Amino acid sequence: MPEDPPIVVERAVVAADEAATRQLAAALAAVLPRPCLVTLAGDLGAGKTTFVKGVAAAVGIDPATLISPTFGLIHEHRPSPDGPRLVHADMYRLAGLEELVETGWDDACSGDAWVFVEWPDRIAAAVSAERIEVVISIDAPERRTFTIRGRGAVQAAAVQALAAEESAADPG
Ligand SMILES: Nc1ncnc2c1ncn2[C@@H]1O[C@H](COP(=O)(O)OP(=O)(O)OP(=O)(O)O)[C@@H](O)[C@H]1O
Ligand SMILES: [Mg+2]
Repeated sequence: MPEDPPIVVERAVVAADEAATRQLAAALAAVLPRPCLVTLAGDLGAGKTTFVKGVAAAVGIDPATLISPTFGLIHEHRPSPDGPRLVHADMYRLAGLEELVETGWDDACSGDAWVFVEWPDRIAAAVSAERIEVVISIDAPERRTFTIRGRGAVQAAAVQALAAEESAADPG
């Protein structure tokens, strides 16, 4: 039997500055299911880490603890006993998929964590089909376009809910 076609909802949002990026991240945090994998693509300096900091701040994690790690590609944060476990992975320095097991990826992805991955193309074969994809393009020094895609029923519903929130906040 052929697989059901993936359910995809896409939303494009322009962030005029870093504060707008943080706001968008907080809006996503408000609708994000648990567990959820969120991939973040975009050039160096696009704002991937900045976006994850915005999510962290929204759930009570000190954004200063979110770093671009020089060693250890995966960092875990937990704001409170019943808050989401937030996993931040930056695969830029991963030499190859065969190194992934050493990073603790499997443990990090277990349970009901929010897993945010920068440079997901480095681990494409290990990324699940059901995910939220965030693609950031740099339009101008401070202006970014975020393309956010929910792949899978639950993920698509979250992106749909994000869209609803945005239109409610934007009467124009
Ligand atoms: N609208 C914006 N959204 C996010 N960052 C912005 C924005 N405007 C300017 N910036 C700046 O762009 C930079 C983004 O850096 P950040 O570390 O988040 O990028 P990154 O995509 O994680 O890069 P890397 O691939 O090196 O990890 C920061 O210096 C931030 O202040
Ligand atoms: Mg980064």
